Amino acid sequence: MPEERRAAERRTKLRRTTDRKVTTGSRLDVILDVTRRLMSITDLDALLRDMAEATTQLLDSDRATIFIVDRERNEIWSRVALGTGSDEIRQAVGVGIAGTVAETGEAINIPDAYRDPRFNPEHDKRSGYRTRSLLTFPMKGQNSRVIGVFQVVNKHGRERFTEEDEETLASLGASAAVAVENAQLVAEQRRLWETLIETLAVTIDARDQQTAGHSQRVTRYAEVIGRGMGLAGIELEKLRAAALLHDYGKIAVRDEFLQKPGKLDDAEFAYMKAHAEKTGEFLAHLEFPHDMREVPIIAAQHHERMDGKGYPRGLPAERILRGARIVAAADVFDALTAPRYYKPAYTVEKTLELMDGMAGDHLDPEVVAAVHRLLKDLEWTLESLKHTWPKPSQEVAPAAEGALSERDQAAVKASDG
Ligand SMILES: [Fe+2]
Ligand SMILES: [Fe+2]
Repeated sequence: MPEERRAAERRTKLRRTTDRKVTTGSRLDVILDVTRRLMSITDLDALLRDMAEATTQLLDSDRATIFIVDRERNEIWSRVALGTGSDEIRQAVGVGIAGTVAETGEAINIPDAYRDPRFNPEHDKRSGYRTRSLLTFPMKGQNSRVIGVFQVVNKHGRERFTEEDEETLASLGASAAVAVENAQLVAEQRRLWETLIETLAVTIDARDQQTAGHSQRVTRYAEVIGRGMGLAGIELEKLRAAALLHDYGKIAVRDEFLQKPGKLDDAEFAYMKAHAEKTGEFLAHLEFPHDMREVPIIAAQHHERMDGKGYPRGLPAERILRGARIVAAADVFDALTAPRYYKPAYTVEKTLELMDGMAGDHLDPEVVAAVHRLLKDLEWTLESLKHTWPKPSQEVAPAAEGALSERDQAAVKASDG
């Protein structure tokens, strides 16, 4: 299910819960309900949005903003919704009302913001909104450390926020803090994961200057094709990871084969072909998250063919995963459009012509059709990636005419990239 639809459903559920009249007796139930839902959100932005909405409704107020404390920069930050998206706002810890609460860990509950010298009326001036009552409350994590700040604006039907409102925020804050720390941890792990696989891809591309930047380009092309074919969310993430790592097995191919100009003999070619199997073998050592388990399989299948004559397994078409079919087309697209020592950079027209000839026996015709459909996007992406193409080098002798055309054909037949 697309993330936007999930978020919309969450908000509807949230509204249903908080629309109930919040009596003292039911308050705890409502908070429990809300926090249980917050706990299931691992995307920090989505979490902050939902938390702000829940807080606004629970406290019967105009709006709420959730700030997060950034200890490294000694700042607090939040995202504010704009007409076209959102923007990050930041301010120093100790400055302004929210900054003061982040520093002291003490709530500030004021009936008239304009009477408090710490209040900054700039935002009101720009938006034409009038802030009156303001409850700014610390969100405390482990060891009572302030990890965030709730700021709730304009209590409905009363002059100021009540003690009960503060109690509500105290209860909500305890579990909200756990949800925030959890989401931060997930975000950190995700960043670690993404940079790890990008580093692996850079490592493999660095081994052979002739294929410099190849994995990165294949990934970008695969993303364009995948998105155009309707992949989203985790499916797109799997495709991205598999594309980045598809040639990882080349780490086990000896330099003299990897960098040999001209034609490889049969034994050398067989050795070179082992890289696809090796990709699967090496990646099998990584503990992929449950929903990413297919990544090594997709990556290892990138030289399989629709007619069953591919390698390493010679799988029949029905066993080749869709992600692998997309990576295969992106791989060929880059092998043809980028220069290699045995061939120049082909024009997009020539590339398409060659790919059309490969549709059916080598490549999935549906993916080739998508390449046609998405040509504008692919061309635009190609332009933005030209600077990553291998540099012409004097060290590598140009291949002899005969070898050139044979390798050329090999590129078309098996796309050795
Ligand atoms: Fe490959
Ligand atoms: Fe490749």
